Amino acid sequence: EQSEKDSLFIVSDFANKHFQQNLHSHEQGGIGMSYLKQRGMSANTIKKFELGYSVDEWTDLTDAALKAGYQQKYLEATGLTIAKEDGKKYDRFRGRVMFPIHNVSGRVVGFGARTLKTNDKKSPKYLNSPESDIYHKSNVLYGLFQAKQAIRMQDMCYMVEGYLDVLSLHQGGIENVVASSGTSLTEGQIKLIARYTENITVLYDGDAAGIKASLRGIDLILESGLNVDVVTFPEGEDPDSYIQKVGDTAFKAYIKEHAQDFISFKTSLYAAEAKGSPVKKAEAIREIVASIAKIPDSIKRTVFFRSCSLIFDIDEQVLISEYNKMQLQDR
Ligand code: CTP
Ligand code: MN
Ligand code: MN
Ligand code: MN
Ligand code: MN
Repeated sequence: EQSEKDSLFIVSDFANKHFQQNLHSHEQGGIGMSYLKQRGMSANTIKKFELGYSVDEWTDLTDAALKAGYQQKYLEATGLTIAKEDGKKYDRFRGRVMFPIHNVSGRVVGFGARTLKTNDKKSPKYLNSPESDIYHKSNVLYGLFQAKQAIRMQDMCYMVEGYLDVLSLHQGGIENVVASSGTSLTEGQIKLIARYTENITVLYDGDAAGIKASLRGIDLILESGLNVDVVTFPEGEDPDSYIQKVGDTAFKAYIKEHAQDFISFKTSLYAAEAKGSPVKKAEAIREIVASIAKIPDSIKRTVFFRSCSLIFDIDEQVLISEYNKMQLQDR
């Protein structure tokens, strides 16, 4: 069993090196390199995150790996090679910029792969490795291996949606950042962060999907007993596009200024709707109480009930009795 897994690690490592070699010295590598340059990635970032390129051929990686003596069954088990029923085989990743995904100890467990095409409806923007014996999406965070020391030092972890968000922030000097890439945040991922800090700041995309993911993320983080702040970005911006647009210094000032605790975030989110409508206001309060209810620590809960009661000018006891009702319903 153990050596089986080792074989998957080893073939993933081979692929990672192969993709990097392609980027730097294959005749097609320049296409990937100019894409990364156009996205603002420095040589240092490319090296640090071991970015690579899968050339636009059917069996480039598979051929190279077999020639080097790796077994096809391991190429298939990691999803790097796809075998069809008629026995034909081909590379999963072709003509894409490759983002290796490391586990906490720094071994490559999978890949994210971005197409260079900007408006192709036929193939997905990102392709990811499938689940395997070494890659369990729900228990891996992109960038954690590179971020863990900074997370511990700053006693805080920024949570973003995408690969490029992680890279751009790193490049701008914000190294305590990870992405849940390709899945919505899970309890297992929060537990990974909890090894290094209890404080998470969510920086999701400035679109409806990002807001929805933030709301879900908040409750999950609170349930795990961690503290959560939220920064929202202008409509249409994500952390990557925004830092590239305004620069490192302005970006840092922006996130400092716009970091809200989850109550303020939810309050401002519902405030627009709630304006002048007692019914809407009641809904907003109930939403917030539902989040507070997720917090396992009773002292923290009390502090947040107090703050909610001040913001909405409503008796704390009313909030607490609403909370008690929710507890009964949950049984
Ligand atoms: N994602 C994915 N598959 C897709 C689209 C997205 O796995 N078809 C994951 C990727 O990890 C991606 C993240 O979800 O980085 C966030 O998605 P999105 O905001 O759409 O992409 P960006 O990271 O902003 O991509 P880019 O800036 O390269 O356009
Ligand atoms: Mn397993
Ligand atoms: Mn998005
Ligand atoms: Mn983006
Ligand atoms: Mn995005």
